Amino acid sequence: MKHLLDIKDLSKKDVLNICNVAKKIKTGKLNLNLKELSVCNIFNEPSTRTFMSFKVAQNKLGMQTYDLISQMSSLSKGESLFDTVEIMKTYGINNFVIRDKNDFFFKKLLKIPNINLVNAGSGCYQHPTQALLNILTLLEKFNFNLENKKILFIGDLKYSRVFKSDLDILKLFNAKFYCCCCKDFLFENENIENISNISDIISEIDICYAYRLQHERHETKFFNTEFNQNYGLNEQNIKKTKKSFVFMHPGPVNYGVEIEKNLKNNSKNLILKQVENGVYIRMAILAIINKKGEI
Ligand code: CP
Repeated sequence: MKHLLDIKDLSKKDVLNICNVAKKIKTGKLNLNLKELSVCNIFNEPSTRTFMSFKVAQNKLGMQTYDLISQMSSLSKGESLFDTVEIMKTYGINNFVIRDKNDFFFKKLLKIPNINLVNAGSGCYQHPTQALLNILTLLEKFNFNLENKKILFIGDLKYSRVFKSDLDILKLFNAKFYCCCCKDFLFENENIENISNISDIISEIDICYAYRLQHERHETKFFNTEFNQNYGLNEQNIKKTKKSFVFMHPGPVNYGVEIEKNLKNNSKNLILKQVENGVYIRMAILAIINKKGEI
């Protein structure tokens, strides 16, 4: 594996291998040193979790890390991503972690030889490292068995790149899919049953994935408690869930919209475990694409 660009490029075996490498790093069974390698982080959209967890991962691996923030670079003068990566490569940098608003920004970059690319979020299309850290969090929770789990997707599915990557990865695990969201955020898919009222299904659900309503990607105005009452998680509907039920959100959360604020410290909330696993998944990916991991 030379790049990580799209979950569709991975088999179930690949996903389990990546998770196993991440788990070994997390539990101290695998110590990696990539100090001879360098990496450039190019973020053309805002980020807290992805950017910082990649930085922490790179520092833990001993890599030489460089950050190119778009507003401070010649990208803001109209220089292309392709030319930017070529310039960084001339400085001896071969690893690139890139977030961009273009769904397929990585396609052109594949023409540049001898570089490793990681997609840190592309438009509304893919966020593969987020889907990997999400699945690791679930595999840990359910003893590495997700067969026949009932999964409910809520929030903005249409514009969410995390949702697209989550769906691709979860299809490998033979789960059953449901969604409950208003028509503005619906993502039509033959594998997903659309439920009009969360209360009709919540007691059967094992896992709920919630996605942020992204005001930066559309004009729809739904950022209020009415959305939460109809399509969100709240204390009322969470009372009806199974004992083993858990919920996740890639963050940042619009508290009071996708998830009611008083569920922040609920025992079924896995959000901080997702954040923690982000570092180990990103360490595993950087090691694997540099042929230092076990895949
Ligand atoms: N989950 C996620 O991508 O968060 P950031 O935008 O903060 O990186």
